[in-house]
Amino acid sequence: MGAFGSVEGVRGAVTACTACALCSSRTNAVPGKGDARARIMLVGEAPGRREDELGEPFVGAAGKILDGALAAAGLSRGSVYITNTVKCRPPGNRVPTDAEREACAGYLAAEMALVSPRIVCIMGNTAYRSLLGGGGITRDRGKTVRRDGVDYFLTVHPAAAIYNRALEGVLAEDMRALARIAGR
Ligand code: URA
Ligand code: SF4
Repeated sequence: MGAFGSVEGVRGAVTACTACALCSSRTNAVPGKGDARARIMLVGEAPGRREDELGEPFVGAAGKILDGALAAAGLSRGSVYITNTVKCRPPGNRVPTDAEREACAGYLAAEMALVSPRIVCIMGNTAYRSLLGGGGITRDRGKTVRRDGVDYFLTVHPAAAIYNRALEGVLAEDMRALARIAGR
């Protein structure tokens, strides 16, 4: 983490990164964004098309759903820190490979160490797998898990609610629980 010094340092390294093949197909790398001292860090999968165009996380359709759920919990985007397991868009929005997740993992670890949030919210199976080696987020959502001194809260990925609108309510309910746990 010392290697980056600050969240801005991580941002600079991500923007210039060529550590995996996704660097050659990206338009923009997408570093995390938000309050560098946030109590809540949210972790998604990887940038999609809109995120790749703008270089910002969760600014497309999934981002709208996330915004709605955050608002339902009284949380603003500026009060949290939002990032992804992998910082560059996989072509066609395929799930990032194990090699891509591993190549990128140091940036996420650095963001976690530097922001040092009260709780890390895992959104969806890719982040669940990367951070906790888990799977089956639909079954496990709503739970809090403590590992190596870090508290994690599990919820579904906002993009899942694009095709299953019932999950919007689930996500909002989880964000309210998350806000309570984080003391916001
Ligand atoms: N889906 C993600 O997992 N992350 C984003 O930034 C956008 C969509
Ligand atoms: Fe680097 Fe991560 Fe982008 Fe791969 S996905 S090029 S490891 S920033």
